[in-house]
Amino acid sequence: MQVYVDNAATTPMDPEVIAVMTETMKNDFGNPSSIHARGRQVRTIIEKARKTVATLLNASPAEIFFTSGGTEANNMALVRGIKDHGIKYAITSPLEHHAVLHTLEELEDSGQIQLAKLRVDALGRPDLDQLEHLLASQPRTLVSLMHANNEIGTLTDIEMVSALSEEYQASFPSDTVQTVGPFRHDPETLQIDFINGAAHKFHGPKGVGFIYINRNTEIRPLLYGGAQERNMRGGTENVYGIVGLAKAMELAYRDMDAHRTHIQQLKTYLMEQLKTHIPGVRFNGDTDPNNSLYTVLNVSFPCTDLSDMMLFSLDIAGICASGGSACSSGSDIGSHVLQGIGAELDRPCVRFSFSKYNTREEMDYIVEKVGELCAQHA
Ligand SMILES: Cc1ncc(COP(=O)(O)O)c(C=O)c1O
Repeated sequence: MQVYVDNAATTPMDPEVIAVMTETMKNDFGNPSSIHARGRQVRTIIEKARKTVATLLNASPAEIFFTSGGTEANNMALVRGIKDHGIKYAITSPLEHHAVLHTLEELEDSGQIQLAKLRVDALGRPDLDQLEHLLASQPRTLVSLMHANNEIGTLTDIEMVSALSEEYQASFPSDTVQTVGPFRHDPETLQIDFINGAAHKFHGPKGVGFIYINRNTEIRPLLYGGAQERNMRGGTENVYGIVGLAKAMELAYRDMDAHRTHIQQLKTYLMEQLKTHIPGVRFNGDTDPNNSLYTVLNVSFPCTDLSDMMLFSLDIAGICASGGSACSSGSDIGSHVLQGIGAELDRPCVRFSFSKYNTREEMDYIVEKVGELCAQHA
């Protein structure tokens, strides 16, 4: 049996997405910047996809720009948001994805900003009192906090962050890469400057994403070149990717409630079964269904002997999951997220992340295999 439970890394593509992309590849090869019929036909396809994304997000098509994925969108929001608005102070959390952390650290190293990282609690929640304190003492600030942590699934209270940012007139980009697909976002009701999505996290293709830029937030391009994306991103568009992204997002929104119920049930079931069969098992991050991403479960196993071999052994058993080693020795720098929340460094940690394609039988198989491994290494 092969079980794919690494959906926070990437998801398998939906056959319906592959079908629309294939049709577009066959029929629509024109360059969307060409003014002849072949070009215009493809331009229309891109604008239709933009409208789909905008409608689902309750945004205007003018607020959606296609990118190469989540990393580029984060760089665009942070680099341009900071430079173009004369921002000198940024606040983030030590648990952000490297696409955010490394970008902000580079801006700090090059002397463009001073960077503060908020305290986080054992569940990975940033200290919002500290955020308010910093916002009150620093004018012209940017606050970058992710919606859901990709390793432990803990959700940030972005409504609260948005309210604080509005009160203190701070710029607020949120890395929403893990939650576009599983959750609805409404920038009309949330005061937010930038959000982003990556198609491969919700059964679309890799190498394509989008950034939402609030209509009141003006920035210059990150990539200079031609006039594509209304002069905001030079380079011939990834037409097939854009078509696939829009289709994948349409499907994710259409079936969101059913998928959420299905996946949350699997996660709860797996947690219960692990607790029953593996004494001493623990979970990293928030597992309260109201405060956590239902697609992610980070498990800390008691079998300390296994340590780094855990993922390898699961792979041999046909289970594709991700690491989350907190190890900080030798060449393995481990997970900054698990270290940041003070996870026990000697216990093997595994991130299981689920999608609509997972089944209860697969959860039983995981429990059986990790049970065997932990029994052998008790
Ligand atoms: C929270 C988060 N932000 C950003 C990214 C980067 O997205 P991409 O791989 O599309 O560049 C990821 C991908 O793992 C992610 O989980």
